[in-house]
Amino acid sequence: MKKKLETLLAHIAENGQINDPYSGSHFPIYQTATFDLKKQKLDKVYDYTRTDNPTRDVLENVFSEVCGGAGCVCTHTGIAAVALLFETVLKSGSNILVEKDCYGGTYRLLGIYQKKYNIHVHYADFTQKKQIEKIFQENSIDLVFCESPTNPGLKIIDLKYIADLSKSHKTLFAVDNSLATFVSQRPIIFGADFEVFSTTKYVSGHGSVIAGALVARDKNWAEKIHYFANAGGRSQNPLDVFFIMIGIPTLFIRMKAHEQKALSIAKFLEKRTEVTRIRFPGLKTHPQYKLAKNQMDFIPGVLTIDMESEELAEKFIAKTKIFGEKASFGSPDSRMEIPSKISHASYSEDELKTIGIGKSTIRLSIGLENLDDLIVDLEQALA
Ligand SMILES: Cc1ncc(COP(=O)(O)O)c(C=O)c1O
Repeated sequence: MKKKLETLLAHIAENGQINDPYSGSHFPIYQTATFDLKKQKLDKVYDYTRTDNPTRDVLENVFSEVCGGAGCVCTHTGIAAVALLFETVLKSGSNILVEKDCYGGTYRLLGIYQKKYNIHVHYADFTQKKQIEKIFQENSIDLVFCESPTNPGLKIIDLKYIADLSKSHKTLFAVDNSLATFVSQRPIIFGADFEVFSTTKYVSGHGSVIAGALVARDKNWAEKIHYFANAGGRSQNPLDVFFIMIGIPTLFIRMKAHEQKALSIAKFLEKRTEVTRIRFPGLKTHPQYKLAKNQMDFIPGVLTIDMESEELAEKFIAKTKIFGEKASFGSPDSRMEIPSKISHASYSEDELKTIGIGKSTIRLSIGLENLDDLIVDLEQALA
């Protein structure tokens, strides 16, 4: 019987295809740099943890299976997984087409690739089909890259459409799935060649560790990402892998809870006159509500609001008592941030304007606290 996703994730230690002779409920942490080649009796022989490690293999095998890939590399940060993708696929002179609403760290990294490694980066709004088709016609694109939902604009990208278009141009397509996660959205099933995600966020779910993963659809690319991860030292240390594995059995149920609480909060904020704009793909008023519902099983618990001025936005954040002013999303504790100040500070003010983000834009990540407590807190801060 093929196990459903929740079942597979609840038994992650048994489903990593690596034998634990003591059948622990959690897979052991092989916190070691080296392994004795003479004494190993199993099929797969380990020599050095930068290359391979049994604890990391469990997580990589599970990610690969749940994402529908042929192989995975777990990395020491989420941005390292993005960098691993770029260094594996791109070479001097390559062209990359990127959705312009992307994580600030990815934008900063692409700036470095542009200046230092002669990579041509073409930014576009992926909801504007004519815009991206024109770029395809005028350039030989090697890699297409986007997030969906985008962060912090929360646009939904039609992944099947972009995958088909990329395929028709014989171009590779990669999706940063950090926000939706593999329990909600399966980019490789829609036709993407790579799925990359920061496990710092929802996947680990407790905000205790920084990490990431890169999954390749086909075996050839899976071998290449593994080769580059070893060559460039991108792989994750076993202790951090363990922290990620601890969060995974509850991912499904957490995503559901985040979605429900965020929807209630979005409905509350939608009615407040202090909020001049609200973006949340779970609201029927979101322009891509239908696509969001078709493409994702759970809407992630992140919403973006605008207030009348930067001063009011700052005041609102300062007055909340439960919400911290923190970067990142996907933790049990609710938080807010002004993207132009923190997560997207590497964009200029003008560049942020083109993606609809200003100094009075706030990104909220709704945690797992009691909903009434959160609403009371928001109410008193708005008042
Ligand atoms: C969408 C997205 N991708 C990648 C990253 C990078 O992940 P990390 O912070 O784990 O390096 C982030 C971090 O905020 C992100 O939001």
